[in-house]
Amino acid sequence: MLLSTPPFAPVAFRDADLLDSAYYASGDPHALWAHLREHRPAYRCDPGDGREPFWVLTRYDDVHRVLRDHAAFSSRRGTMLCIVDLSMPDIASDDMMPDTDPPRHRQLREPLNRALTPRAVAGQEDSIRAQVRRLLQPALAGPVFDVAQAALMFPMAFTGTLMGLPSEHWPRMAELTTTTVAYDDPDYSTGSPTDTVRQAHHELFDFFRTEVLRRSRTDPGTDLIGILRSMDLDENPLTERQLMLNCYALLLGANVTTPHAVCTMVSMMGQHPEQFARVRDNPELRERCVQEVLRWASPASHFMRYAVRDVTLHGQLIRAGEPVSVWLGSANRDERVFTDPYRFNVTRHPNRHVAFGVGPHYCIGAGLATLALRVLLDELLDLVESVEPAGEVAHLASNFVAGYKRMPVRLLPRPGRRPDSAEAGR
Ligand code: HEM
Repeated sequence: MLLSTPPFAPVAFRDADLLDSAYYASGDPHALWAHLREHRPAYRCDPGDGREPFWVLTRYDDVHRVLRDHAAFSSRRGTMLCIVDLSMPDIASDDMMPDTDPPRHRQLREPLNRALTPRAVAGQEDSIRAQVRRLLQPALAGPVFDVAQAALMFPMAFTGTLMGLPSEHWPRMAELTTTTVAYDDPDYSTGSPTDTVRQAHHELFDFFRTEVLRRSRTDPGTDLIGILRSMDLDENPLTERQLMLNCYALLLGANVTTPHAVCTMVSMMGQHPEQFARVRDNPELRERCVQEVLRWASPASHFMRYAVRDVTLHGQLIRAGEPVSVWLGSANRDERVFTDPYRFNVTRHPNRHVAFGVGPHYCIGAGLATLALRVLLDELLDLVESVEPAGEVAHLASNFVAGYKRMPVRLLPRPGRRPDSAEAGR
């Protein structure tokens, strides 16, 4: 998705189809969101073709309210607009962590959360650093490097390691997870949207089934799949289906979001070399820089809930049972909350972005993703002198992630820091 800045061209918001994946590849969603925030903070989008209408909330405070208030806005009927028919029941309801409400949600989340706190994942730093160097090595050795393609493997590698997934399957799993959110994109589509998603799910679930069945309940191992295998839900072990659904949630959560923060970091380094030079000289700015990259990228564009009871927002009645989408990319540019929101600013503080959401479903992988991005930043600052664009950027056709498909760049190494010397020196 184009990360555009004002002045925006006038927006014909009635014509903009928020469900249309192609709009996110070639349209200007940030211009539309700015318009909606200002003029239609609670907008009922009616596709007008028989598909269920849904509410669109674009202001920061409303995003907060909906995501925090699970009693009024439930996750049980699904949390992504995508291609599903919003009037149909959600097949993962109550079984897959993102599609549950507290208190059931806590039963699924807590055992996994213990393994994913910032403190728990700190021990992964060396392994993540090795993966970052593997990612950057060809970039520094060759003339042109496609960050978008290389970045797809990055979360797959650190999440695949934590889940205990065999590395020979990683490339295919990375491709399949992207397919499930980019089913309309010609580079990923394998038929109709529904068939494309069904086939991708089928293949992914086969991988997970093999991994889940490999682990015994009595000695399941300590990786994330092992934790799922040993936990209870309502005093029963997870069923095979519940195990696969939650494996899927973990891998999808990591794979479809993190690559776009990686691309944004590299792209911002090219566009704002002076800001990154400042970060290089002031290590205390590194955490802030990572947070600003996350705000700027907002890799997950929206999440969704269903109203449990009637709620009035901005004078509009949202009726019980209606789908409500909240737009994180828009909230992260809300001028009511962020000073100069369209300026990328590595010193921004405070920076209460909602790229990881908020409330009970706050991203369970946030500590891991933040660590991975901080390690990437360290290595970029250490190894790379400058980033130059080397071709046209292509955006992913997806109404769910603000993704890149191609981002050709030239990474010029810092003097004396060619990849081999970098490897040798450590
Ligand atoms: C830059 C990277 C990432 C971004 C921007 C991101 C974004 C988000 C957001 C916005 C949510 C909230 C969903 C909701 O409210 O319904 C979420 C939840 C989730 N994320 Fe992430 N995520 C990232 C990385 C990861 C990683 C690395 C993992 C895997 C370890 C992961 C796994 C999940 C899961 C399983 C949930 C559901 C949590 C729950 O329902 O309690 N994410 N993520």
